Amino acid sequence: MQIGELPKPVPNANQVLISVKTCGLNFPDFLMVQGKYQVRPNLPFAAGAEVAGTVLAFGENVKNLQIGQAVFAATLYGGLAEQVLADAYKVFPIPQQMDFQTAAAISVTYGTVFHALFDRANLQKNETLLVLGAAGGIGEASIQLAKMAGATVIACASTAEKLDLCKKNGADHLINYQSEDFRAKIKEITNNKGVDVVIDPVGGNFTELALRSLAWKGRHLIVGFTMGEIPKIPMNLVLLKGCQIMGVFWTDFVTRESQKNIENFEKMFPLFANKTLNPTLEIIDSLENADAALTKISQRKALGKIVVNLM
Ligand SMILES: NC(=O)c1ccc[n+]([C@@H]2O[C@H](COP(=O)([O-])OP(=O)(O)OC[C@H]3O[C@@H](n4cnc5c(N)ncnc54)[C@H](OP(=O)(O)O)[C@@H]3O)[C@@H](O)[C@H]2O)c1
Repeated sequence: MQIGELPKPVPNANQVLISVKTCGLNFPDFLMVQGKYQVRPNLPFAAGAEVAGTVLAFGENVKNLQIGQAVFAATLYGGLAEQVLADAYKVFPIPQQMDFQTAAAISVTYGTVFHALFDRANLQKNETLLVLGAAGGIGEASIQLAKMAGATVIACASTAEKLDLCKKNGADHLINYQSEDFRAKIKEITNNKGVDVVIDPVGGNFTELALRSLAWKGRHLIVGFTMGEIPKIPMNLVLLKGCQIMGVFWTDFVTRESQKNIENFEKMFPLFANKTLNPTLEIIDSLENADAALTKISQRKALGKIVVNLM
């Protein structure tokens, strides 16, 4: 990545032009800048899938916003820039008392996880959720939302420091899946029953191990593949467990079911206000350091969310 000039964006009838204060980083930004994401923007482009800032302009069909209003938005890319366009249905006013840094950190992770746990897996109170990559952005949101729903959470991460963060976020059980016998630990914790739901942003060999740890009629949420390898699953396991493997694709969900996504965020706003939901933030104070921050995410060194202040 390098810093340069792009043409000034102009909103169409359904878009909002945002002056970016803070851009939240996510693992998919790292995939996108390598050309490995399902969306490949024309070069040159600015990465950055979520922002918080103020409204500079909007198209004629946008009725619910005002110039200068503080908003946050999912942008897919373009957020690591002074100005970015967002489709109006992905733009929310920032709730009172929420700062720009927090607002820039909630669209992608909490939006994805709320959709995954509740729209897709129908996670119930008293069920057990297994979270892989539990100290990352998706992982942290999973712990907090599942605890809010009354579920028991088993958090898996690769270092003691990451597991400390999982505990702070409310995880009931911790597994270092780099050094411990992952399946044996889950059997021990669940009294051989297995877990009801897995949220899996990691892939690789952990997907099959986690699927094998599901209880009867369990649900395995496929969210991403940070390990780099897209796993192939023996389908007899699905039959034998009466379980479901569920795909989660938040970007398309937001486009296809935008009203449902808005309702999901309206349910979460009071939970952010009372700090039930509260992303752990590392704040980077200049655009010049965004490249190093993405590298940190790619090297598995990030804790929670990294956000970049642009001004
Ligand atoms: N499906 C959707 O709609 C959707 C939406 C958003 C994100 N995603 C996907 O969800 C995944 C997680 O995104 P995120 O933003 O939460 O990422 P993140 O904050 O970087 O966390 C990912 C976690 O993956 C684990 N990991 C294992 N192997 C890794 C490796 N080789 N490199 C980096 N991390 C590795 C790390 O935990 P340990 O070190 O503890 O293993 C890390 O904390 C990504 O694949 C992303 O593309 C999908």
